[in-house]
Amino acid sequence: MALQPHGGKLVSRFSNTNLDDMLDVEVSGDLRSDIENIADGIFSPLEGFVGQDDFRSIVNTGRLKSGLAWTVPIVLDLDEQTAKNAKQAGEVALAVGGERFASLKVEEVYMINKLASAKAIYGTDELQHPGVAKMANMKEFLVGGKIEVSKRIPQGQIRKYRKTPKETREEMAQRGWKTVVGFQTRNVPHVAHEMLQKAALNVYDGLFVNPLIGKKKQGDFKDEVILSAYETLINNYYPKNRAMFVTLHTEMRYAGPKEAIHHAIMRKNFGCTHFIVGRDHAGVGNYYHPFAAHEIFKNYSDLEIQPVFFPAFYYCKKCLAYANERNCPHGPEVRDELSGTKMRKMVSSGEIPAEHLMRPEVSRLIVSFKEPFVS
Ligand code: ADX
Repeated sequence: MALQPHGGKLVSRFSNTNLDDMLDVEVSGDLRSDIENIADGIFSPLEGFVGQDDFRSIVNTGRLKSGLAWTVPIVLDLDEQTAKNAKQAGEVALAVGGERFASLKVEEVYMINKLASAKAIYGTDELQHPGVAKMANMKEFLVGGKIEVSKRIPQGQIRKYRKTPKETREEMAQRGWKTVVGFQTRNVPHVAHEMLQKAALNVYDGLFVNPLIGKKKQGDFKDEVILSAYETLINNYYPKNRAMFVTLHTEMRYAGPKEAIHHAIMRKNFGCTHFIVGRDHAGVGNYYHPFAAHEIFKNYSDLEIQPVFFPAFYYCKKCLAYANERNCPHGPEVRDELSGTKMRKMVSSGEIPAEHLMRPEVSRLIVSFKEPFVS
């Protein structure tokens, strides 16, 4: 049986409100994606941007003030004048490049201590950390309040695999899946990624492959490369009746363990019962212990979606198999490690990864891109 959405009900926030006469507030294209995610219930139970009490509670306890698990605040930051005008107006239109697409009821305007908040979420306040840098660069005022979307983002090539939780839940039910395991990724697939998913598929009815498409740090693979690489992998190596391929359009935050909880909550809303967490989930540099994202689930036994933990997978030249320290006795000298960082390094130095590291169809496709990385 599918789990209930996080908080018990799937949020849906759409309306035909006329936005023409409202004061408009410009937001980024990335934020527009997250606003649509709120409207579609991907961030259930959030109905808008969090207010001060929820913000404080998320930062201090990793939960909303209601006590419900929530680790990454979804916020709108504005400069002083715009925040003042918005508060005075009470309700504003949100726009990208002048195009109005949603309304926001301004419930409160508040300030935060950016670096202290960043430290609580990311475990560091170093500005080299991309999540900390983003928070440090936020405008001074945050606005809390509910949103309603009037115009969806046009689908286009990059969003052709986007689905709403309502749609994915219906599809899972139609397929008769009782257990569904979700897989988060921000990378092109290497064979260890595939093996994690297939190991889980030995146990659960369905696999929900759900790459994150959206803002990423410099040097990460571009969205179109990730999308085409997964299309190719799934067409060639996955059983159609056991795997669903859907993209998630939001930003990577590189918050390691806290983001692993956030990732699990979004997949619960899509209808997953289980969620894969491997080595250094949502990590960046050496900021997090490789298994910090496993540890944090001990504090979230009420999450309902169940984490499926995997140790670090590598290719063992002696076992002739993808293995890990739980099932293989051989030492590092016969191991080929597989990681997104290693694949990025190989591709950027013009090296084509060997077939036991990356499927040949996938590596051929990646090298066909002139510039596969975010610059
Ligand atoms: S992430 O930032 O989205 O977590 P990535 O796309 O590399 O990065 O990883 C997707 C998932 O696969 C994460 O759960 C990660 O922990 C896991 N993973 C990636 N490589 C390995 C590996 N070699 N062994 C075990 N787990 C891995």
